[in-house]
Amino acid sequence: MPARPDKATRRAAASVTEPAPAARPDPALLLAWYDRHRRTLPWRAAPGLRQDPYRVFLSEIMLQQTTVVTVRPYYEGFLARWPTVADLAAAPLEEVLSAWAGLGYYARARNLHACARAVAERHGGHFPDTEAALLELPGIGPYTAAAIASIAYERPAAPVDGNWERVIARLFAVEIPLPKAKPRLRALGLTLLPDARFGDFAQAMMDLGATLCTPRKPACALCPWREPCAARAEGEPERYPLKVAKAARPTRQGVAFLAVRADGAVLTRSRPPQGLLGGMSEVPSTPWEGDAPAHPAAHAPLNASWRALNAPVTHVFSHFALELTVWRADLPAGTPAPAGHRWVAPAGFDAEAFPSVMRKVLARL
Ligand code: ADE
Repeated sequence: MPARPDKATRRAAASVTEPAPAARPDPALLLAWYDRHRRTLPWRAAPGLRQDPYRVFLSEIMLQQTTVVTVRPYYEGFLARWPTVADLAAAPLEEVLSAWAGLGYYARARNLHACARAVAERHGGHFPDTEAALLELPGIGPYTAAAIASIAYERPAAPVDGNWERVIARLFAVEIPLPKAKPRLRALGLTLLPDARFGDFAQAMMDLGATLCTPRKPACALCPWREPCAARAEGEPERYPLKVAKAARPTRQGVAFLAVRADGAVLTRSRPPQGLLGGMSEVPSTPWEGDAPAHPAAHAPLNASWRALNAPVTHVFSHFALELTVWRADLPAGTPAPAGHRWVAPAGFDAEAFPSVMRKVLARL
């Protein structure tokens, strides 16, 4: 088990550059608040019970970069279909990707599957119970390892997500901007850990950040830590966490080719296994590299009478925004699929791993 920093180290970490808070925030106050106000979430065990590590794992991977509201039906669907980590490990990757379609950041689905396989093969279907051993698994980073260790196994770990960071940056009025502040915020977070109830504490920090210590209008009057909070004492808590200005997101353009056969089937292919949306299904398109290519017809999957549809489809990825003009061609029944392509009937769309951007293109049918 990773050693918990002793009290002296934890105090020292809290007092390096920031003004000392009025008093060390008492974890018991947060836990008492959590006992009264905890959110009821499908991946959360009832009070006093430990959560199954597989459920923690599944929910935490899904919740990275995705909201609770979006995750809920996916979490429930995955659990109904693959109730144990061994079930998930035994599933073909294509089925996992297609069940994930719509959640975005698809590398998470591939990692989820690879991790389930590793747990099944290396650990007999049981998640290891220390942060260090969890970190050895594919797709498990420091955040997820700490979340499983604390929530499922009651280890003294700090799963520092955006909520934790905001709460800590405000409590200690941390003047270092994100992302540089991350190690500092984590060190300060460790100073806050209670002596027991580590899983509840981890989730209490998340709930505090999600419901009271919100980015724009924090509800300080209701906060169990309003007394020791340095940012509240300064009078402008929403100033924290400081952030360095983000570079503008570039826009890339392309053309998507919607080839529709007389029986309604749509020409489809699989993306290369590596890279953006790796292994997912798509309608053919020009490369998404920069401006629209000068001669998009050269990229068309077959010779046909293509016509451009009205407004482009737009989609925002983490590093760029995409603007896809949709070209449609109607083809006779019996038209063969070119090499590397296949025809998919509308009844088969749900079973295909079409990412959100492609579902938007298909909505133009
Ligand atoms: N966000 C990420 N993980 C969470 C959890 N376990 N509870 C609530 N919100 C979360």
